[in-house]
Amino acid sequence: MLFSPSRRHWTSAIRLAITLFGLPLTASTSGARPAALCASHHFYGTSKHIKPICGDCYTCSIGTMPSPAGPHVKSRCPQYPQSTITRFTVPDDKVDWNQKWPEYSPVNHTAPVVLKKPVWADPDIGSFSPKFNAVDGPVDRSSFEGKYKVESEKPLNPRGRTGLTGRGLLGRWGPNHAADPVVTRWKVDASGAKIHHSASKKPILQFVAIKRRDCGEWAIPGGMVDPGEQVSLTLQREFSEEALNSLSVKQSEREDIRKRIQNLFGSTGFQVYKGYVDDPRNTDNAWMETVVVNFHDEAGDSVSELPLQAGDDAGHVQWVDVDSSFGLYASHSHFLELVARERQAHW
Ligand SMILES: *[C@@H]1O[C@H](CO)[C@@H](O)[C@H](O)[C@H]1NC(C)=O
Repeated sequence: MLFSPSRRHWTSAIRLAITLFGLPLTASTSGARPAALCASHHFYGTSKHIKPICGDCYTCSIGTMPSPAGPHVKSRCPQYPQSTITRFTVPDDKVDWNQKWPEYSPVNHTAPVVLKKPVWADPDIGSFSPKFNAVDGPVDRSSFEGKYKVESEKPLNPRGRTGLTGRGLLGRWGPNHAADPVVTRWKVDASGAKIHHSASKKPILQFVAIKRRDCGEWAIPGGMVDPGEQVSLTLQREFSEEALNSLSVKQSEREDIRKRIQNLFGSTGFQVYKGYVDDPRNTDNAWMETVVVNFHDEAGDSVSELPLQAGDDAGHVQWVDVDSSFGLYASHSHFLELVARERQAHW
């Protein structure tokens, strides 16, 4: 769904499918070292509407370092993505709504694409009556962060001010729910033995990363939870769409891969994170939340054999070594670190 395969890609996928499918992927897929890994949530909307945004990985300098406990940072990035809008500047000590700040004068912005009322977006407040802090028909408007405030009929970002009201690029008022599957396997040598890192002496994990066609940034293959959809299904659907649809394999192989994915995602994954995401698209009234789950192919006989692009090929889906030295941005690096710790792997 994400990638309409170009001819070049098609050819290389077939080549790899032939060489790799059915064979254990071994040292040939030594993890590439992408320079940056960015959030997957650029892919939002339903499976029929996927709207990628680039530039999520840009370093946003507002004189403060992101820290899990500190105030949100990317949600205050001066330049709002895909627009010429500049946020009203919110200093660290004014992020909290409890800090009285009469001078606060945020910019009102809802992207034209959202105002066009696509299926993945709510109408404007006033023309409909959403039930906040609840499951509202097919749309889950409850937050992992607990009960959020609603002021003048508008939900308030649970992590505080962002300098911008309205929904920006986000479809829903309040939480916009995403799901990120982290699919892992052990890195093994030609004989199938786990490869240990020379420094940490711990076995190395690899995870499935996708390369975005638009900006070449790396991402975990996640996406938005569709209305009425179980998160467990979103995780599987996003992974299948992004990891599988970019592959040109025969129908019979496709079925086999689908079964493998179903089996893996049917297993109990390790829930890595559930909650607010500090995302540059967040506003005072709309924000990203996600569930990150790790599905691990311990025996290496399930999705480990997916015919993904190998090595440093300019492929779109790839096994990448889990290692702290990637230039991942804070939250995603943190997710992978938690996975590595859980699996007692190298980090
Ligand atoms: C904010 O902008 C939207 C459209 O972008 C508009 O419908 C709404 O009335 C504006 N709200 C305020 C408070 O100005």
